[in-house]
Amino acid sequence: MCGIVGYIGNQDAKSILLQGLEKLEYRGYDSSGIFVVDENKNGHLFKEKGRIADLKKIIETDTFCTVGIGHTRWATHGRPSVKNAHPHQAANHQFTLVHNGVIENFLELRETYLSDISLSSDTDTEIIVQLIAYFAEKEQSSTFEAFKKTISKLKGSYALALIDINQPDIIYAAKNKSPLLVGKGESFNAVCSDAMAMIQETNQFVELMDGELVTLTRDEVKIETQDGTIINRAPYTAEINLNDLDLGTYPYYMAKEIDEQPAVLRKIIQAYQNDLGQFQLDKDIITSLKDSDRVYIIACGTSYNAGWAGKHLLENLAHIPTEVHLSSEFGHNMPILTKKPFFIFLSQSGETADSRQVLVKINAMNFPSLTLTNVAGSTLSREADFTLLLHAGPEISVASTKAYTAQITVLAALSEAIARENGIAGDSNMAHELGIVATGMESILSEKTHIEHLATEYLRTSRNAFYIGRGVDYYVVMEAALKLKEVSYVQTEGFAAGELKHGTIALIEENTPVIAIITDKVTAGHTRGNVQEVNARGAHSLVIAMEGLEQESDQFVLPEVHPLLTPLVSVVPTQLLAYYTSLHRGNDVDKPRNLAKSVTVE
Ligand code: G6P
Repeated sequence: MCGIVGYIGNQDAKSILLQGLEKLEYRGYDSSGIFVVDENKNGHLFKEKGRIADLKKIIETDTFCTVGIGHTRWATHGRPSVKNAHPHQAANHQFTLVHNGVIENFLELRETYLSDISLSSDTDTEIIVQLIAYFAEKEQSSTFEAFKKTISKLKGSYALALIDINQPDIIYAAKNKSPLLVGKGESFNAVCSDAMAMIQETNQFVELMDGELVTLTRDEVKIETQDGTIINRAPYTAEINLNDLDLGTYPYYMAKEIDEQPAVLRKIIQAYQNDLGQFQLDKDIITSLKDSDRVYIIACGTSYNAGWAGKHLLENLAHIPTEVHLSSEFGHNMPILTKKPFFIFLSQSGETADSRQVLVKINAMNFPSLTLTNVAGSTLSREADFTLLLHAGPEISVASTKAYTAQITVLAALSEAIARENGIAGDSNMAHELGIVATGMESILSEKTHIEHLATEYLRTSRNAFYIGRGVDYYVVMEAALKLKEVSYVQTEGFAAGELKHGTIALIEENTPVIAIITDKVTAGHTRGNVQEVNARGAHSLVIAMEGLEQESDQFVLPEVHPLLTPLVSVVPTQLLAYYTSLHRGNDVDKPRNLAKSVTVE
């Protein structure tokens, strides 16, 4: 989703901003732009629809500029176009602004203050910059005061960076709900939506809180609250390995990230095990969880699907009743809660606005919360009581793969740590079992060529597809279907195998692909019966079954792992099926149409 960068220093701002925007590409976007100021205090605005590569083509290289702001836009108000791309300018061209978020009262603000101004875009963002100009002129106030006054009128979410062409040695910034960091360096300062955007320049970042205003010059960063209180907050060191951002010899990040999964699992085992090789987690988390009567897992997208496998682990290993909820539903339609709920937020990015609005409500109700995230220092991590990191390394592909398996793995570690504390772990050793899973994943990954053939045979030209499974396999097929539709655009549904015949079987036609996952011996026979039912109606069925439950006609056999950990292996061939289908359909695998990686609006 929208990404912001801003730089003020002594180096070439254009290349630094473009590099930053390229690092933000993974978030998903449909247009981009930069505004830079040259040594003669002339502003230069460049905007383009499409990719950063297209923006680069129109940027003039003959001026040297040391200050600027840049943006990748994921359309909300107004179609993707040059006129709607950021930065936006006030009518008098004095002020230039980039924005991430949604201004809910933009129509009202336009009617109240800007009815005389003819707008040049369809965006809510333009209202903000026109309003700054309006207050600066009407009240003859300083830019900072006009910026502050404008912000006090905004309802909604925003991360903002502003340049006044008459003060080109300053960048103003502010945030509410949307993420924004300050990057600090030797004789330069920067703002960015996430640390990855500026990691090439610095690893020192300062977190900003909602409602704070920032004034950046080359040498100084001033952070203050709306009432003028100065905030002195020390920077933290972002631990991002630049090599992790490198594609290496892979054609796409999705392929790289699928391959990284065994290594991620081993990293998690190492991070959370004690000297005895058993999982041992922060005592305060375990105590708080032990004290609760129900876990509520809150998440979106792939993280939501991981939540279901997490429920299976928490209930079966730790014996804690667990519910799984979609963030966007839970916040506005909260079920009746138990007396002692404990909230677990699953979020790869730690920035998802839908999940954050729930956390804000939960915090106001004083309920304990834990965030499982891949990004240390992210909003959901900062605002929850506890954090457990996924240790998956940056996930760049929009379609999430290694974060899904990392979330399940950390939830397995957590479940066992609680079980041990409660004296119900017996001789279970999940760290050991997860080591077996990592090896199993490697053996699946060595069969890529076979899976690629299956993808071309079953899915390359099909219009729709079904995944079916029961119990924990049903949880996995929900994720498998999401992955396939995200990157291949094949309309896919993940169904409880027994439920298909109660309606949806009407959609089965000659050659409709139906992919069944079978890892549970209790329900294996039933699911095989469901495969027969669809075959009898012409379906082209593909069976992925676990060793010990396989039949000769099955297309893929999974290595046997601990029964509670089967999602970690059964999901891998489905990730590869999605990847190869997308590849063979000629799609942009890492940046599927319409999707964003970090969804920072509700
Ligand atoms: C977006 C991404 C998904 C992701 C979801 C939740 O929709 O495209 O891949 O699963 O957000 O993101 P989170 O960062 O909260 O896990």
